[in-house]
Amino acid sequence: MLEIRDLHVKFHSRDREAVAGISLTIPDGEILGLVGESGSGKSVTAMSVAGLLPRKQCQLRGEILLDGADLLHADRAALRKLHGARVGVVFQEPMSAMDPLMRVGEQVGEALRIHTKLDAEQRRERVLSAMLAVELNDPEAIYRKYPHELSGGMLQRAMIAAAIITEPALLLLDEPTTALDVTIQAQILELLRRLNRERGISMLFISHNLNVVRKLCRSVAVMQRGQIVEAGDTEELFFHPRRPYTRRLVEAIPRVRRKGGAA
Ligand SMILES: Nc1ncnc2c1ncn2[C@@H]1O[C@H](COP(=O)(O)OP(=O)(O)OP(=O)(O)O)[C@@H](O)[C@H]1O
Ligand SMILES: [Mg+2]
Repeated sequence: MLEIRDLHVKFHSRDREAVAGISLTIPDGEILGLVGESGSGKSVTAMSVAGLLPRKQCQLRGEILLDGADLLHADRAALRKLHGARVGVVFQEPMSAMDPLMRVGEQVGEALRIHTKLDAEQRRERVLSAMLAVELNDPEAIYRKYPHELSGGMLQRAMIAAAIITEPALLLLDEPTTALDVTIQAQILELLRRLNRERGISMLFISHNLNVVRKLCRSVAVMQRGQIVEAGDTEELFFHPRRPYTRRLVEAIPRVRRKGGAA
């Protein structure tokens, strides 16, 4: 279970806090959607949990607990271990997240090299099976390819394989389908749903697209200016948004009928 308690993030270069005291919980096996306008602090929240914020450029306050272990105040060695093995991260642009000069298979297995004592052959086996788990068929061939040889959808599957290879309890997904076309987007969502169902991986799913959130997430939190302004059951929030801000977000979505069922 992930618990964020009163998290504050302030960049030294800014007057206003990027994250201004948010609290949220993701129970085991749940997918929480995180939505809100650009600059509201969604990515900074995810980066805080992932341990990826530049610590020298900002000040963090509060608690981030993963199964009770404090991710915010742990020492470096403990942190590396916790983050690398327990939290997987997938970002929007698979192409820029990958090293263009490194074979896809090696990149998918990178976390194993850092966090386990498996030898090269064992790592390779794990990579091939992770690739199959994300429906990259013919994993032997894909293993040898370079990122530019794969389509956007395949690359994003490879990123997801890399994120689940250490069998993390939690996946942080920051607009993982935004750069993909609609058909591929639907396939990736289905894949995430399956990983959640079959492996019980919990997820923080950041998106601008409330329709997408609605398909994947039972609960959702809405951020505005570094704070969570509304949170709860996704359907409830869709049909009965309490805050004017949430209402505007919902109204901004095309093709959603807010009375009775899906568009
Ligand atoms: N490294 C940084 N240094 C200074 N300010 C930053 C840094 N990273 C983010 N910010 C600021 O923190 C605030 C929150 O940014 P964040 O990236 O979390 O927004 P977001 O909700 O993810 O937006 P988007 O939907 O556009 O991705 C913004 O004001 C942003 O400019
Ligand atoms: Mg962002």
